[in-house]
Amino acid sequence: MTVRPILSIGHPTLRVRAAEVDPETINSPEVQSLIDDLIETMHDANGAGLAANQIDEPVRIVVMEVTSNPRYPYKPPLPLTVAINPIIEPLDDEMVEINEGCLSVPLRGNVQRHVNIRVQYLDRDGVEHDEIKRGLTAGTWQHECDHIDGKLFVDRVEDPSTLATWDEFNEFHRDAFVERITAFVERVGS
Ligand code: NI
Repeated sequence: MTVRPILSIGHPTLRVRAAEVDPETINSPEVQSLIDDLIETMHDANGAGLAANQIDEPVRIVVMEVTSNPRYPYKPPLPLTVAINPIIEPLDDEMVEINEGCLSVPLRGNVQRHVNIRVQYLDRDGVEHDEIKRGLTAGTWQHECDHIDGKLFVDRVEDPSTLATWDEFNEFHRDAFVERITAFVERVGS
């Protein structure tokens, strides 16, 4: 396992639609070691998720995990998940405004995300999954799946005045956001 450099906004690889992974290759040493590197790099950076194109590998693989995360202490737990060729489908029109950050962007900002989604993906053993995700967990899925479509959260920020550095977010906006989003998490349960 290797901690790989994470690309920053402006790097062209972050802006391409990443290629599908041939399911026949999931068991190969190349794909398995890429998955290990993604997990290692996500852990090293205290990320809640990481997409393969963020480490300059434009293929449709994302990893996610939330335990007790110092970057996002209000996020509910999300067990380590490897999603290959993920597909997301909103289940209804319910939206929530989430203040997001990203390991490829030095800012946070408010974006609208679907609250209830269906996800279909292959795991690192090639096993098919078809699951419902809700709340902030659904938000994390949407953020990571945007990456492999070449999108960054800043593309979805409708009000640029919500953009803030981490320091300024912590000083001026964090308390109100955490209060609102904690009530939301308690309501939807994830
Ligand atoms: Ni990101």
